[in-house]
Amino acid sequence: MARKTANYVCQACGAASTKWAGRCEGCGEWNTLAQESAPESAPKGLGAKKGRRIEFQGLKGSSPHPPRQVSGIKEFDRVTGGGMVAGSALLVGGDPGIGKSTLLMQIAAALSGSLMPAYISGEEAIDQLRLRADRLGVTDANVGLAAATSVRDIASSIGEAGGPDLVIIDSIQTMFVDSIESAPGTVSQVRTSAQELIRLAKNRGFALILVGHVTKDGQIAGPRVLEHMVDTVLYFEGDANHQFRILRAVKNRFGPTDEIGVFEMTGQGLAEVANPSALFLADHEDEVSGSSVFADMEGSRPMLVEIQSLTAPSALGSPRRAVVGWDSGRLAMILAVLEARSGLALSGMDVYLNVAGGLKISEPAADLAVAAALVSSVSGVPVPPGCVVFGEIGLSGEVRAVSQVDARLKEAAKLGFTRAIIPAKTRGKRDQTKTKEGGMEITEISHIEDLLRLFSKQDEKKAKITTAIDPASDKRRHG
Ligand code: TYD
Ligand code: MG
Repeated sequence: MARKTANYVCQACGAASTKWAGRCEGCGEWNTLAQESAPESAPKGLGAKKGRRIEFQGLKGSSPHPPRQVSGIKEFDRVTGGGMVAGSALLVGGDPGIGKSTLLMQIAAALSGSLMPAYISGEEAIDQLRLRADRLGVTDANVGLAAATSVRDIASSIGEAGGPDLVIIDSIQTMFVDSIESAPGTVSQVRTSAQELIRLAKNRGFALILVGHVTKDGQIAGPRVLEHMVDTVLYFEGDANHQFRILRAVKNRFGPTDEIGVFEMTGQGLAEVANPSALFLADHEDEVSGSSVFADMEGSRPMLVEIQSLTAPSALGSPRRAVVGWDSGRLAMILAVLEARSGLALSGMDVYLNVAGGLKISEPAADLAVAAALVSSVSGVPVPPGCVVFGEIGLSGEVRAVSQVDARLKEAAKLGFTRAIIPAKTRGKRDQTKTKEGGMEITEISHIEDLLRLFSKQDEKKAKITTAIDPASDKRRHG
């Protein structure tokens, strides 16, 4: 009797197994194993047959830079590293309804002047696509529409010379290859479909954009494998309750990966947001305790965002800690550092932290802004008006330098901010004596105790902070 080959495949990582299990042994995910057609038997090794000799080449040589296709939608061009590269494959992931189809329709229309785009949808009928194009006001653009899901049909239609030079597949989970038995959306279907389409794109030199659905925990559904196959992976994210959307590069063989593009969903599609700080600070009020403005860097782009916190005495044994838009582990760390290194009594407090506007921040430089918001909330003393804050906090309470200080300060000055609280370590790199830069008053601090002092100095009467500070704190810091 022939041995049975593996035919359960993890839909998250692609690992194969011979028997079903509740948990994938490859990636540890639960309930991801699904039965799929058995893969071909394992390769048997090379055997005795000799192969062709490979010639090695030097690093120097005249390889031309690949041509870029600039769409004119600046936010998109920046994220792709200056436009899409011919013959490259790009994956756009995002939650359902976030606006992937809208974005790609707009990109197809924007590129239709210089290219021949084809938009192939496996999810919507031609009429629906036309309705969307109408809503976006791009019905005059020369874009070829098709509703198809068979990769064989698609390959026959776009594979020949003279075919489209930009192909958009919406979405890769709806595509199927008829030589594989499993259903569309399974790992083997998605992987094979993508492989075929990418091979065509490389052969014929057209740019390929694949839409990938995202699972509830934010990964491109099924195939992490897909991320390895394409040249560029972009995530389109945003908050269902907010209008803005962020396009983020997480992998890019042809450009930087920390760039973001900011869009706003309007009644007529996605509008570019050239000045995101204004969007995130739109409702910012000065003189409210518990809020601070953080000068964030997303790739090469500075952005000001408001960080809000609320602290209140807790009635619970273990107080509540709720965070939106920031890492909860990082908040726990800042709370512990504030308590241990400066004696601010926070352990009996419920703490709520929110990044206004629904943005998600991952930069450690936000530490100091979070600490400022927390101290301000506890003390009831507002952060000085027109002040931005940034800096990383170490476990001993020291405030560490962060990168791109000048870009952050410039953005703040541009938006009318007049003060900044920044790490002292930055000074070495700048003019030692300067405390005013571009009309900004700079306060440099080296330890979070200096931050607490700022808040107690500001308004002696309002400063309840002194009562919250444990007099033993100095001993703790030095002892
Ligand atoms: P869509 O592009 O279909 O999302 P995805 O392809 O990621 O699933 O966008 C759907 C949402 O966008 C839908 O809720 C309606 C909204 N929308 C607008 O607000 N304005 C518009 O001009 C368009 C086309 C869509
Ligand atoms: Mg869609």
